[in-house]
Amino acid sequence: MNLIKANGYKDLSRKAANVVSAQVILKPSSVLGLATGSTPVGTYEQLIEWYKKGDIDFSRVVSLNLDEYCGLPPEDTQSYRYFMNDHFFSHINIKPENTHVPNGLAQDLEAECIRYENLIADLGGIDLQVLGIGHNGHIGFNEPGNSFEKATHIVELNETTLQANARFFKNIDEVPKKAITMGIKSIMQSRKILLIANGPDKEEIIHKAIFGPVTPDVPASILQFHPDLTVVCSFE
Ligand code: F6R
Repeated sequence: MNLIKANGYKDLSRKAANVVSAQVILKPSSVLGLATGSTPVGTYEQLIEWYKKGDIDFSRVVSLNLDEYCGLPPEDTQSYRYFMNDHFFSHINIKPENTHVPNGLAQDLEAECIRYENLIADLGGIDLQVLGIGHNGHIGFNEPGNSFEKATHIVELNETTLQANARFFKNIDEVPKKAITMGIKSIMQSRKILLIANGPDKEEIIHKAIFGPVTPDVPASILQFHPDLTVVCSFE
């Protein structure tokens, strides 16, 4: 494991963007696994800046997002598809058809999980997966207590996650109760993983995830077994 301590959010974002950028420069047709949430916003902003300067080319990159709420259309400002277009894809030269987010509107959600998992395999697997971490140790929407064995699946969001996500909605009742997420199994199959965490409120969970026992009660703890994990964190 490569543990990089950053000095504040800007530094964290630049360091994380450097890891993504190196991946894309070394393999222009990289398959990037991407996350939403507040943590990677600065990383995306930095990548956009470097793209605009001509330093990175995303024209052959393929992306696969970790998760999506069920029931929100792509044009809903709270959907993860909207978030990705807004914060990243619409500012760079990635081909829209090369950007993939689970379809939370699929009639048959189980079939959508299988389709998404097959898509990851058909694309040759994920070269670099970017992850944030929830206060309860979740990665994607893999909540504590879930099995480590799952591939892409449907989850019922637990109270902690509903509350954490309520800040983006008018009130907690508007937060969708279900989501599609890549499973721990899908995430662990990525060739490289970049875990980013920012703020004093993430220090305890990062410590547990990286140095504590590997247990489904702290889903991110499984990352200790990944052969190519980079953690970039700032607790300022
Ligand atoms: C987002 C995701 C979540 C977030 C996590 C941390 O696609 O899968 O696991 O990474 O909830 O969110 P922030 O960055 O908002 O603290």
